Amino acid sequence: MPLSRALILGVLALTTMLSPCGGQDDIEADHVAAYGINMYQYYESRGQYTHEFDGDEEFYVDLDKKETIWRIPEFGQLTSFDPQGGLQEIATAKYNLEILMKSNSTPATNKVPEATVFSKSPVLLGQPNTLICFVDNIFPPAINITWLRNSKPVTEGTFETSFLSNPDHSFHKMAYLTFIPSNDDIYDCKVEHWGLDEPVLKHWEPEIPAPMSELTETVVCALGLSVGLVGIVVGTIFIIQGLRSGGPSRHPGPL
Ligand SMILES: *[C@@H]1O[C@H](CO)[C@@H](O)[C@H](O)[C@H]1NC(C)=O
Repeated sequence: MPLSRALILGVLALTTMLSPCGGQDDIEADHVAAYGINMYQYYESRGQYTHEFDGDEEFYVDLDKKETIWRIPEFGQLTSFDPQGGLQEIATAKYNLEILMKSNSTPATNKVPEATVFSKSPVLLGQPNTLICFVDNIFPPAINITWLRNSKPVTEGTFETSFLSNPDHSFHKMAYLTFIPSNDDIYDCKVEHWGLDEPVLKHWEPEIPAPMSELTETVVCALGLSVGLVGIVVGTIFIIQGLRSGGPSRHPGPL
């Protein structure tokens, strides 16, 4: 492994937060981690090895299948990345973390994640589209993001990115759901995280401009018409008054 990489990992591991192996009653005792672009944490013994480019995920290494997974599959045909490199770095991160765990460390503070839901393209009923749940300010990187259609969990047509790094050591993640907009379906993006007292639901439903009701149309028409009529009457009165009071008073000529 190149020295610079090792240094970066070391520094990241040192500068980022570590939660200690606490006592029995410490519910997060199993959560100890080193964070950076690539991370390893003792929460379900998980690690993540990703490459980012310009804020976007290029690929990640599936640590179980030992495979490089490209975010855009076509990229994998143009270039390649040996998953062994990622596996090795994760092993190093794990090793460094184990050493760090023996020293004093401070408990990490859970951040409160923020979720936003929007559609990829303008919504047209019956036109296939994708819902995006963008979750930011994730720390620590352990989260469950799920989709609900009419309050029932949906798993088909879903996809999510890896944890993508933020400059402040928190992470963001995007979850996707392909769907066909319909007037009958409403959606929620459900977020579970230690920073939340209870799961947060971000609601989404198609915003189809309601056709103006007949009554509203009539009222708007009548109002417009009456304002117009009043204008004509008042205008006419002013013109007549102007004519009656005669030109001289309004245009006093030079004395
Ligand atoms: C995610 O869901 C699993 C299974 O329900 C649960 O055990 C775990 O605690 C959840 N994780 C978070 C961060 O809420």
